[in-house]
Amino acid sequence: MSFVKFYKEDQQVPLEMHKVRVVQKLFLPTVEERVQRLKEAGNNTFLLQNKDVFMDMLTDSGVNAMSDNQVAASMQADDSYAGSETYNRLVKALKTVFKTEYFLPAHQGRACENIIAEAFVKPGDVVPMNFHFTTTKTHITRKGGRVEELVIEEGLDPNLIYPFKGNFDIPRLKKLIEEVGAEHIPFVRIEAGTNLIGGQPLSMENMIEVANVCREHGIMSVLDASLLQDNLYFIKTREEAAKDMSIMEITHKIADAIDLIYFSSRKLGFSRGGGIVSNNEDLILKMKQYIPLYEGFLTYGGMEVRAMEAMAVGLLETMDFEIINQGPLFIEYLVKELDEYGVPMVKPAGGLGAHINASEFLPNIPHEQYPAGALAAALYIAGGVRGMERGSISEQRNPDGTENYAELELLRLACPRRVFTLSQLKYCADRVKWLYDNRDLIGGLKWVEEPEVLRFFFGRLEAIGDWQDKLAAKFREDFGESL
Ligand code: F0G
Repeated sequence: MSFVKFYKEDQQVPLEMHKVRVVQKLFLPTVEERVQRLKEAGNNTFLLQNKDVFMDMLTDSGVNAMSDNQVAASMQADDSYAGSETYNRLVKALKTVFKTEYFLPAHQGRACENIIAEAFVKPGDVVPMNFHFTTTKTHITRKGGRVEELVIEEGLDPNLIYPFKGNFDIPRLKKLIEEVGAEHIPFVRIEAGTNLIGGQPLSMENMIEVANVCREHGIMSVLDASLLQDNLYFIKTREEAAKDMSIMEITHKIADAIDLIYFSSRKLGFSRGGGIVSNNEDLILKMKQYIPLYEGFLTYGGMEVRAMEAMAVGLLETMDFEIINQGPLFIEYLVKELDEYGVPMVKPAGGLGAHINASEFLPNIPHEQYPAGALAAALYIAGGVRGMERGSISEQRNPDGTENYAELELLRLACPRRVFTLSQLKYCADRVKWLYDNRDLIGGLKWVEEPEVLRFFFGRLEAIGDWQDKLAAKFREDFGESL
């Protein structure tokens, strides 16, 4: 994709190595309608209706475009409760990709987390990880465990350019093991493509080092490979030791070092579903019983067979650098475009999407008025673009009910793979630039309905004051009749 050199170098853009043959019509409501829809959705972009969204950048989960071969494969799915050929084909693909013998299917990533937590976490346990993910943390804390985040310092500085900001701080990991005792650490979780700090990758070297530390202490190492796809791209392009390795070789090297791998195939493999793989039969046996209990029989685990076929093909396609570079290159394009304009972005561009640093974008909105949520609301008004708050709203309160403010207040603009065109990304950047120039008009949010668990999914908030109507009025003034 990036290797097609343009004659006019200053016109160089990422060039897609695929063509689009199935499309979906989009609608863009007027700015007045957008304000109305947002109010109805409790200022929570999760509660907007997709028909009212022009660019759905909420997530890249389950919304990536499939390839012709994936769609074709899904048509030959072998629908059977037990022992389907589809399952066998999927196991074969997983063996090729991860070189693992055993596979437990689950309906998506968090279902794997539920099973892993059920099998391994007990009250008082500590689970170290580079950084938490929302559902991961909730599953661990519900089992009475606690999460310790050990990402390197560089990872929490949005402006610092460092190639692997998702890396573990190894000395801190060793110190924690010493303090807590290996017997209270059921596993160490390595999250590829660290979601909540801006899709930042870990190096292959760091992942392997973590696994080695675990082995020395008899602790299980677990890789959350949901965002491995982009992480592999960054290892290949940023890590000296990997530059001559194929994506498959890099994957094998990582998988060889790690005890247990789980993934959401809504992300990894451009399909749906998820699963857990390992070469360690004992570990698998500890979890196996929970699959029929929570998910479905062992040969489908709650997944639809068509998705399993698409997953098998999608996982193999993930081993193709020309296929997986589309996401990171589009994200880099969007980040560069906004960064050059002065919009505070998480840098360097990571995977998953472009991340705006809402604390810096809106310095006058304090944590308690949720700057990242306010920015998500404002961008929907500005352009019908639906991003996702990845800041304090996405956190859970402390056990005593006080707020647990996020270390980073980010607005994530996910780039589902092969879904948007470059002109649509340009449109998105244009509306963010307009918003940046009008940032003084943006105000805060407050809770109206706050659920106890994973509140960001369905909680409702309202604007503090009438800033949203004023923002819409300014839009009309600047854009005239334009949508
Ligand atoms: N782990 C990571 C790193 C994830 O990003 C996700 C999902 C999960 C686990 C859970 O997987 O959704 O299939 O249950 N992330 C989505 C997102 C929801 O939008 O970032 P799931």
